[in-house]
Amino acid sequence: MQTKVTSAFESRFAHQPSIVVRAPGRVNLLGGHTDYNEGYVLPVAVDRAAWVAAAPLAAREARVRALDLGSDAIFPLDVIPPSDGGWADYPRGVAWALQERGLKPVGMEAVLTSDVPVGAGLSSSAAVEVAFAYAWQQLSGFQLDRRDLALVCQRAENSYVGVNCGIMDQMTSALGIEGHALLLDCRTLEVEPVPLPAGVAIVVADTGVRRQLAASEYNVRRAQCEQAARLLSEHLPGIRALRDVSLNDLKRLRAHLPEVIYRRALHVVTGNIRVLHAAEALRRGDVVTVGALMKACHASLRDYYEVSSPELDRLAEAACEVEGCYGARLTGAGFGGCIVALVAVEAIPDFEAHVSAAYEAAFGRRPVVYACRSADGVKRVL
Ligand code: GLA
Repeated sequence: MQTKVTSAFESRFAHQPSIVVRAPGRVNLLGGHTDYNEGYVLPVAVDRAAWVAAAPLAAREARVRALDLGSDAIFPLDVIPPSDGGWADYPRGVAWALQERGLKPVGMEAVLTSDVPVGAGLSSSAAVEVAFAYAWQQLSGFQLDRRDLALVCQRAENSYVGVNCGIMDQMTSALGIEGHALLLDCRTLEVEPVPLPAGVAIVVADTGVRRQLAASEYNVRRAQCEQAARLLSEHLPGIRALRDVSLNDLKRLRAHLPEVIYRRALHVVTGNIRVLHAAEALRRGDVVTVGALMKACHASLRDYYEVSSPELDRLAEAACEVEGCYGARLTGAGFGGCIVALVAVEAIPDFEAHVSAAYEAAFGRRPVVYACRSADGVKRVL
């Protein structure tokens, strides 16, 4: 990827890039839709990443080529044009958000390429945002730490691109640590690296279905969670988000919530408990417990949060039929995209064969299945 992005830069701009940056995608082992409820998540940065080769430019503009799309964008930096719904919203949004923080990104020539599948639940957009934010940080000499970088990228996504996402994806792409999952407190932004056990692989299986409903339904779920917190706060003074609600209180106050709102809240409240429990299990190398929690997480996303799909359910179910698979769940926002599974390394061939055959029998096409390695967060490689 590094050679690819460097030589594409050279042929596009007729000189060498001064930096090359790599920002990873992620899977989330536990925690789903808990981040924007100020709760906990347990993601892993993976070896699928967005790559940006860049050099400073005297003109106050950005010239960016998206290699995978064969598309170019040129935009001014002093008055950032409004979003247009295309890929260039990500670099433009980052430039916009940096300026919202009072920073002045330098002019830039850049080439982007990525092997994070788009819209598959592996954070392709956060990887692109974090790669550009870091490239601008390096070229402009900003002193932002990695948390700030993640916050800038989340701001770009929320207020420029227009997706009301939480902070998990950007934090993971910025702060990932090879060999570790990150226990992330999405209220305090504290991060605790938790070692991943040896001999266990993170395997992704892709439904091939892309999330049509994702943005609209995502925002609906978020609003439902806020409604739950509001209604519960009438009986639990001082709570700010579902993060503050215990399972006992939620059950006790069930009658005060519309049924669908109760189910959404139940997913989030139990989700936070599952994350903390899984982090504890992972610390002692207990993959069996982590796997069981992943299965419970998938069931809760399917039944209470209602963000799964028949394709995701079939993949998750087929995964768990394989001996040596500890657990599986949908990853990312849902509605399509991928499942993530924890699989004993020696069981990977069986896993791939069984999951592919089961999915093909049900839907007439084979899923893409691959093992991922954990990776570090954003890095300059040149
Ligand atoms: C998307 C969002 C994240 C998070 C997940 C669901 O990936 O970008 O902030 O909410 O969905 O867990």
